Order: sequence, then structure tokens, then C-alpha cells
Amino acid sequence: MTKKLIAPSMLAADFGNLQRDTEMVNNSDADWFHIDVMDGHFVPNISYGMPVIAAIKKHATKPLDVHLMIEKPERYIEEFAKVGADIITVHYESTVHLHRTLRQIKDAGCKAGVVLNITTPINVLEDILPECYMVLLMSINPGFGGQKFEDVTYQRIKKLRNMIDEQGLDTRIEIDGGVTDKNIEQLVEAGADTFVAGSHVFKSENPTATIKNLKTLANA
Ligand code: DX5
Ligand code: ZN
Repeated sequence: MTKKLIAPSMLAADFGNLQRDTEMVNNSDADWFHIDVMDGHFVPNISYGMPVIAAIKKHATKPLDVHLMIEKPERYIEEFAKVGADIITVHYESTVHLHRTLRQIKDAGCKAGVVLNITTPINVLEDILPECYMVLLMSINPGFGGQKFEDVTYQRIKKLRNMIDEQGLDTRIEIDGGVTDKNIEQLVEAGADTFVAGSHVFKSENPTATIKNLKTLANA
């Protein structure tokens, strides 16, 4: 069985205490750092860019999973790789030549993944799946943390799981948005294996214990 991974979203961290929160993730059961980059065009919010990622990388002892919510991400792939991205995911909706962009990510030395917005049909992935280390399914409209999980995600995971199995691949399925201890088991059951959690982790009283709990529930 594929090991289930937890990727706390640094969007919900305390930016004034970035080193502290990075070390919390280092010392927890988390597997990756999830890094949300927003440009104010592709999504209606601006988050952070290369200098902040470099600052996290300086202290991080786990891989950086960089989620690009930016238009034409192909313009910046090498720069994100240079500041320490290990995995880079780009939105299907954000780049015209997806195949070329995924190759560009791999040529820059990173693992490559595709993200789908909630209304983008799963079947657009059929021909590109062999190029993907991971597919990230949005379970909210991207742009902000702390939103409510959308239930349509379950059937989308099942469709994607079938497609991956039919092609005999081991592509990861990552879920991003509104993941909590209340839905993670059902998400695993539907076929997901990698989980982003922002506010559920960082707004909790004991983030380390919250991460441990998510990890345990997902791997039960
Ligand atoms: C939103 C981001 C998410 C966000 C998740 O566009 O892609 O990664 O940080 O936050 P929560 O877990 O609070 O929904
Ligand atoms: Zn994200």
C-alpha cells in the first residue's frame, strides 16, 4: 500500500515566525512542506514568492512541494527550482503547453505534477498522466486557506484513481483545501494518498499533535 503523506501548507504559518513554524514541521510527522504561490491574476490573492521560499528552504529538512497558482508558470520554473523546490505542480488551466512545462520542471531537477481546478474534467489528464509524478485535485476554489471542503472531490478522486490504475501507473493523488481529521479517512478510501492541510494544522492548539493525528488516520 502506498504510504500516505501529509504536507502542511505554509500559507497558514505565522510569517513573523517562519523559522519556528518550519522547525515545527521538521520535527513533526509531516512529510513535505506545501508552498502556495499566488500571483493575483490566476487566483484573486497574492501570497509570496522566491525570497520567502528560499527562507523556508534554509531551515527545512523535508521536501518542498511548490503549488504554482500563477499564469504562465513556464516563465519561472528554473527560478523556483533554484530556490529549493523539490516538487513543482502547475495548474492545467494556467499553461497552454502543459507537456512542455512538465518537461521543463523535470529538466530543472524537480518532480512534476498537474493541478486541476474543481470544474476541470478528470479526463483531460488521460494522455499526460504518464508524465506526472503527482496530480493535485483542488477541493476548494484556489486562492485562500480556510475554506470549506467541496464534496464533489470524492467522485473526482475515484475517477482519477481508476484512470491511474487502468494505465498501470503509481501517480500520487494529492488533495488540497479543507482537509481535516473529519474527512481524511474518507479521502483515503476514495483513493487519495497525499494531503495538504493549512488552517486545520496551524490554527490548532498543538500543530504537531494535529499532524500526527492526520498521519495516523490516513495510514490506518
Ligand atoms: C489554496 C491553497 C491551499 C491552502 C489550503 O489555494 O492551495 O494549499 O493553503 O488551506 P486549508 O487547508 O486551510 O484549506
Ligand atoms: Zn496549495
